[in-house]
Amino acid sequence: MESNTRDHLFEKAKEFVYEAGQRIKDQIDQPRKIETKSNPNDLVTEMDQNTEKFFAESIRNEFPEHRLFGEEGFGDDIKDLNGIVWIVDPIDGTMNFVHQKRNFAISVGIYEDGVGEIGVIYDVMGGALYTAVRGGGAFKNETPMKMNETKVLEETILALNTTWLIPENPHVEHKGVEALVKRIRSTRSYGSAALEFVYVAEGIIDGYLTMTLMPWDIAAGRIIVNEAGGIVTTADGEELDMLNKTTVLASHPDIHSEIVENYVDLKQRKKR
Ligand code: IPD
Ligand code: CA
Ligand code: CA
Repeated sequence: MESNTRDHLFEKAKEFVYEAGQRIKDQIDQPRKIETKSNPNDLVTEMDQNTEKFFAESIRNEFPEHRLFGEEGFGDDIKDLNGIVWIVDPIDGTMNFVHQKRNFAISVGIYEDGVGEIGVIYDVMGGALYTAVRGGGAFKNETPMKMNETKVLEETILALNTTWLIPENPHVEHKGVEALVKRIRSTRSYGSAALEFVYVAEGIIDGYLTMTLMPWDIAAGRIIVNEAGGIVTTADGEELDMLNKTTVLASHPDIHSEIVENYVDLKQRKKR
């Protein structure tokens, strides 16, 4: 992508994100229509849908040749990442949005032929905009985020969620996770994948390990973590699949392979 095209796209992505965020803020105290999707805890509101509709209209008006891969179904039917694709989670952390009216984010990743070019994550109520353009570093508002301090596992905080504790979780051998949790300093669980990625980039946590994310949960965050100097792979240490559900480990580079090799004992793990 030419740099002036990318600069223009980046400006437009930020403009759309700020406008979408303002609409959410303006209506934050309105009564909510809450529905459920795949299970009783998988929530969606009219605000998730209206925000994605806003992105769909804005992208179609401004960039009719681009495609949208969005969570709520107002985008295109995406089967490949050819050309320019906006991968959008209109509200990441809907449960936080519903229960807390904070701690949720708008997440926009822009990919060209499968390569992540631009990542924008907006902590709407916190007011922080996290951004990265491939090769240009990662920023929180105007401040660069860069991981350079060395890390040992014993001095880390990792974001994990409590689905790890469910004994019948088919994906995980619990012994590895138990051993990991005993070794690190502590765990956190924020309820928004996008925010967990940017907290890794910012260095306020050192890693985020999770079993089921969708492309729109990951698209912007992986670019931002990479640009801050972190590593983002599947929990197996493999390249992420940006079209399907996946496991994810995003972390400081000093601890990434140690976690993959020693602690994440996935039941379906491929023999190496
Ligand atoms: C969810 C959040 C949550 C993660 C879930 C996601 P949503 O996204 O990122 O932290 O654990 O896997 O589905 O549904 O609020 O957009
Ligand atoms: Ca999400
Ligand atoms: Ca969402």
